[in-house]
Amino acid sequence: MMEKLLVTSKETEDHVNLEDEIRKKIYETYSGIITESKPIRNPKRMVKALREKFKLIVPERLVTLTIAAFLSNRPVLFEGPPGTGKTEIGEAILTLWAGKTAFVLPCSENYDEYRVIGDFHPLMALKYGFNEKSYIPRTLLAALVLDAGILIDEIRRSSEEFQNLLLDIIDKRRIIVPELKTIFKARGIGFQVIMTSNPEDIGQGELSDAFLRRVVRIKFEYPDRSLELEIIKLRTSDVEVKVPDSLLGKVLETAEKLRVRSTHKPGPSDTVMWIKLAKLVAQRKNKSIVDIDDILETAPIVLVKRDEDEDVVNEVVYEVFGVPLWKR
Ligand SMILES: Nc1ncnc2c1ncn2[C@@H]1O[C@H](COP(=O)(O)OP(=O)(O)OP(=O)(O)O)[C@@H](O)[C@H]1O
Ligand SMILES: [Mg+2]
Repeated sequence: MMEKLLVTSKETEDHVNLEDEIRKKIYETYSGIITESKPIRNPKRMVKALREKFKLIVPERLVTLTIAAFLSNRPVLFEGPPGTGKTEIGEAILTLWAGKTAFVLPCSENYDEYRVIGDFHPLMALKYGFNEKSYIPRTLLAALVLDAGILIDEIRRSSEEFQNLLLDIIDKRRIIVPELKTIFKARGIGFQVIMTSNPEDIGQGELSDAFLRRVVRIKFEYPDRSLELEIIKLRTSDVEVKVPDSLLGKVLETAEKLRVRSTHKPGPSDTVMWIKLAKLVAQRKNKSIVDIDDILETAPIVLVKRDEDEDVVNEVVYEVFGVPLWKR
């Protein structure tokens, strides 16, 4: 009976070759897009690197909690309103933590293990059979094998089965590929998972209790005014045109009102884009300072993402700037 469970040395050897073959394939496929640097695992140093390397202003508390979750082998869920930096911050933290460019997996409801772990190439499988030669490793397996992080974007768009599959992989830090009779194990602590979600997005599924119990949920909020100003300045400093503080204040006031009143709620990503576009428009007109016309000219592109918001945007702009947007 015991003998049946024992693996012969020939079988072990075959397995090592198979694993190596898949590893080699992953290295060949992804080496062009992965850059390596020294991992950063200290919160203070990470906050500094996020600002200097990624132009992201992230509270130290958020970084510390994320690192604590990584160290306790828990997946992290960044949850909050659109445009508050969840995706970019998640990707950057994972990259710094592993010292390797993180993988990003934008979720879709029809994801299953074949799309995220790996699949067989039909023509290759006909030629070589269903083995390592015809196997195409995908993002999640690649991240685990390369000991890199993976950002699972918009997790609510995926199915419950997919979420359970993910939790199992994160929990056990291994991926089983039954078709290859192989188990791939994480080799270091670089492989970590951050998921993002925006609970206010219409038409997205609920996350199950079982799922929420396992993840470390970190809530994102709109930044306060002074932080949002700092973000805008950091993000638009490459265009050398000045923006008077009074105009910046009005832009933020507009965004704050629309966050309450419109369907498309402008996040910091939108206020950054608004100022950037206004600066570029001013620059094209050979101006060295942005004026109200540049701000109003670019307002609709950023603020009206849905036709039904036209009226409320017009109303708010009138309240803040004293000029209607449409009848200029
Ligand atoms: N803390 C921040 N530091 C620097 N830039 C920020 C920050 N927060 C938001 N931004 C701006 O927002 C952009 C990133 O937004 P991102 O797409 O990551 O947000 P999100 O929360 O994932 O939004 P969504 O829910 O729409 O996916 C950056 O390019 C930058 O312009
Ligand atoms: Mg996002």
